[in-house]
Amino acid sequence: MSAGQAPPPVIAVDGPSGVGKGMVTRWLAQQLGWHRLDSGALYRILALAARAAGVNLDDADAVAACAPGLDIRFVGATEADEAILVGGQDWTRVVRAETTGGLASRIATAPAVRAALLQRQRDFRLPPGLVADGRDMGTVVFPDAALKIFLEASAEARAERRWRQLSQAGVNASLIDLCAEVRARDDRDRKRAIAPLAPAADAVVVDSTHMKPDEVLAEIGHLLRQKSLSA
Ligand code: DC
Repeated sequence: MSAGQAPPPVIAVDGPSGVGKGMVTRWLAQQLGWHRLDSGALYRILALAARAAGVNLDDADAVAACAPGLDIRFVGATEADEAILVGGQDWTRVVRAETTGGLASRIATAPAVRAALLQRQRDFRLPPGLVADGRDMGTVVFPDAALKIFLEASAEARAERRWRQLSQAGVNASLIDLCAEVRARDDRDRKRAIAPLAPAADAVVVDSTHMKPDEVLAEIGHLLRQKSLSA
């Protein structure tokens, strides 16, 4: 980008785990023809890479030191054809595993780890625009985003959606256990000292607890039109 040129626009979509940010950000990126950043995947990959290197995940500096060397590539635009390549190897399944979310949430409390991933996230801001999915997209990583959306839903509603997804995939899971996991991760993400999960002052909060996916997308489409954002 040359001096004086406006940086590509960003739409920041933040919210707790399992709230549907993936669905919303994929839809937005497809509607607009923009790039998409899955910042949670970066935290997940870093946790896995550090562990694979034998690093103690409580040693924040050592975890952060693993970040610069990571060769990460995201392939595919839909959840079905998504592939996450790390050093050319397909890590998709392990990155998406429930337990990896817990590891990511653990390392994400450390300032050194967050600092190590900051510029990497900003590097995704390329023309014609970026849809950024995470916890602190609107507050820390892209505070100048053109539109900030904070998706909310009760922990019970999110656990139930996850339970349905797993049941459809033939996986037996306990709704009570899923709800406890969702609450534990929420607690850690919302209460951490640095970049805690919270809506930016200028974010639009969309509570999807009682909404169907197409109703959520209709609401987001309405917000896009209000901001005159289009492809
Ligand atoms: O969105 P996700 O479930 O893939 O994220 C996994 C964890 O990574 C989440 O529990 C907290 C952390 N995270 C974060 O701290 N900041 C982000 N921008 C994205 C994820």
